[in-house]
Amino acid sequence: MKNDRAQFVTKTGVIAATVGSAVGLGNIWRFPFEAGVHGGGAFLILYVICVLLIGVPVVVAEFVLGRGTHANAKGAISQLVPGTWMRWMPLLGVLASVLILGFYSVVAGWILAYLYMAVTGMMSGHTPQEYGTMFGEFVSNPWLSTMCTILFLLINYTVLRRGVQKGIEKIANILMPLLFLILVVFCVNSLLMDGAGKGISFLFNPDFSKITPSVVVGAMGQAFFSLSVGLGCLLTYASYFNDKTPLVKNAFTIGALDTLVAILAGVMIFPAVFSFGMSAEAGPKLVFEILPSIFQHLPMPILWSSAFFILLFFASLTSTISMSETCIACFVEELKMSRKKATMLNTAICIVLGVLCSLSFGVMSSFTICGKTLFDLFDFVSSSILLPVGGIFFSLFVGWVVDKKFLDDQLTSNGEGKMSNWVKMPMMFCIRFVAPISIVLIFLVGLGILSF
Ligand code: TRP
Repeated sequence: MKNDRAQFVTKTGVIAATVGSAVGLGNIWRFPFEAGVHGGGAFLILYVICVLLIGVPVVVAEFVLGRGTHANAKGAISQLVPGTWMRWMPLLGVLASVLILGFYSVVAGWILAYLYMAVTGMMSGHTPQEYGTMFGEFVSNPWLSTMCTILFLLINYTVLRRGVQKGIEKIANILMPLLFLILVVFCVNSLLMDGAGKGISFLFNPDFSKITPSVVVGAMGQAFFSLSVGLGCLLTYASYFNDKTPLVKNAFTIGALDTLVAILAGVMIFPAVFSFGMSAEAGPKLVFEILPSIFQHLPMPILWSSAFFILLFFASLTSTISMSETCIACFVEELKMSRKKATMLNTAICIVLGVLCSLSFGVMSSFTICGKTLFDLFDFVSSSILLPVGGIFFSLFVGWVVDKKFLDDQLTSNGEGKMSNWVKMPMMFCIRFVAPISIVLIFLVGLGILSF
């Protein structure tokens, strides 16, 4: 093990940083709109199944590789099977990370703008329809949305320059619990609205006739995206774990907290959608059109909305940091770049991609590839293709390639922790068979080669 590498110092820091990576716009923005487009309850059930049977096992696989090698994604594979083609696979993750950062930072830029509007009171006193128009005008304004995207990426850069412990661990430790609390308050508020029942039954009552190939593929993509898995990001974070960190337990904690936050976001959004008579199928703009109206229902809307957008901003930041870190660790350790240069290179690539994505809602809205704008295309290619391919790779690699002693040492934290067979056997079964096979099946269904 290399002693000069950074490590997370505190136990809660490990959880907070990994949960910080997992909990982000994926839960509060992407989950509600994906569930909305894909029929609510049916999507939720498929999503939870994917998290349990595919997501958490692949998280464990990434943790094993990262903590066992204390290296970046490409370095880890090179170290275990030097000189084989497999060491190039994690580069797909690096590609996925910049594609995701491209569209993610656009949405994070919207959050910054909404934060500004919340604090200055510009968000108060409009009708739900007016909020819809406001959002449309804002995102189609090329200057505003591009500037917000760039601003966000520069903030991301500033934190990353300071390194893993100082930058990431502290922020995550304080802010994640706060975000959770405030979400609960908003959920209670939404549940008290007229017509809340309709929203709740949309989210929790599955209508199985709504399950189509695209719903299944969407649910798997959402599980990967939301858990931050398949990209080598959790592998990179696990390389900063110490030798005692319990990997399997942490993987379940992340799965549980991440799913809980997504469900809370659904409980916050859907009752409001139905009570304002809006459409659940609005897509990426759903949350941004509904949230301001939700705040109007609370006393002191300026205070609540500002607090919410500040926390959402930090939740996005802890996620983008983790994605950038995957890339930066690779640049630093594989290309022998300085951390400063690597961070600058990552930011530069993301700014180019981010600007292209932000224009997808305005001047470049008619520029489409396979019927998708760049924003949608980046999202689709990364979440529905690259992350699942990464998932197949990491699970097969840990299930079939690494040696037994390495695996056992990691699962038991070098003999520090006990690993009951009741947990180990099903977990290894999922890593070896269930996860890779189900991902392949879902791909075949998505491509229309297999139908049900
Ligand atoms: N999971 C984060 C979210 O829900 C986004 C994210 C961070 C991510 N790191 C990742 C997605 C790695 C895929 C892979 O917002």
